[in-house]
Amino acid sequence: MQIKLDTPLDMHLHLRDEDMLKTVAPLSAKSFSGALIMPNLVPPVTTKEALLSYKDRIIDAIGDNEFTPYMTLFFKNNYSYEFLEDIKDDIIGIKLYPAGITTNSDGGVDNFDIETLRSTLEAMSRLDIPLCIHGESDGFVMDREKEFVPIYEELASSFPNLKIIMEHITTKDSVEALERHSNLYATITIHHLLITLDDVAGGMLNPHLFCKPIAKRYEDREALQRVALEANPKVMFGSDSAPHPQHAKESSHCSAGVFTSPIALQLLTQLFIDNNSSIENLQKFISSNAKDIYNISPKSKVITLEKKPFIVPNSYDNVIPMYASQTIDYSIIGIK
Ligand code: NCD
Ligand code: ZN
Repeated sequence: MQIKLDTPLDMHLHLRDEDMLKTVAPLSAKSFSGALIMPNLVPPVTTKEALLSYKDRIIDAIGDNEFTPYMTLFFKNNYSYEFLEDIKDDIIGIKLYPAGITTNSDGGVDNFDIETLRSTLEAMSRLDIPLCIHGESDGFVMDREKEFVPIYEELASSFPNLKIIMEHITTKDSVEALERHSNLYATITIHHLLITLDDVAGGMLNPHLFCKPIAKRYEDREALQRVALEANPKVMFGSDSAPHPQHAKESSHCSAGVFTSPIALQLLTQLFIDNNSSIENLQKFISSNAKDIYNISPKSKVITLEKKPFIVPNSYDNVIPMYASQTIDYSIIGIK
């Protein structure tokens, strides 16, 4: 049986820069129609000039592939209305990182007092610019996302016209919060739909599954699977595919990030089929929900998959993918 997926979108992607960009950008651009590009470069993308030149470098790196990079700016609480009005048409959203919480987030927000954030968030709300958030506190690693939920909720109630995307949610608490506020949405990764902390650290430590937020409990994974498999309109696929060179992953100070972009569609297809969901729901999760949430109309691209073993490569240049060398059940057999 062939499965056709129309216009797949990855609404949370790290493409990096320079050689790494050249390695990973074509892999996403091959099988996705577009992706929301994270701004956590060094230094982070905070100016129009940096944003447009990064976009040009991405377009160069994807070669002949038809692919739209939806650009984001790194949140700063001093962006003026005029600056945002000027950059609005070049971005799909602004990404807020708590300072120091993950890779290249040192310049993020260290004070979540609403009054400190008000002028920028009001401007974003008036200009209809979505706010994407990495929602983790600096508390105990398993509680970080849960501890951030009150901040999501305070922001959602204080700025009811601001679209807030809870990025890469990993817990049942986040799923519940999502359902309480009409202006909260979420991305979900393929790795958080498939693994728990047991896969990362329950047996021999697997650095290639280590990421922020860390994979959680079985009941958390079940809550994520429920909303993804039912194609709840508040959730969409965002891989958070976050490549690091092999030496940075297989290290005494392992960098956080799982590299999944070349196998994401195959694994999603397997997940939806094995759990008796439908291809219609998968279509919503990987494309239509995101189009509705972000009001975008990417160019069409149809990916055909089939139940046929695919051996995940050992590496893509110096990047080790999730499930390296393992066989997965579905393969991409056509791209049009
Ligand atoms: C991401 C990265 O490497 O840029 N890492 C990760 O573990 N997900 C940053 C992020 O999204 O947190
Ligand atoms: Zn990320």
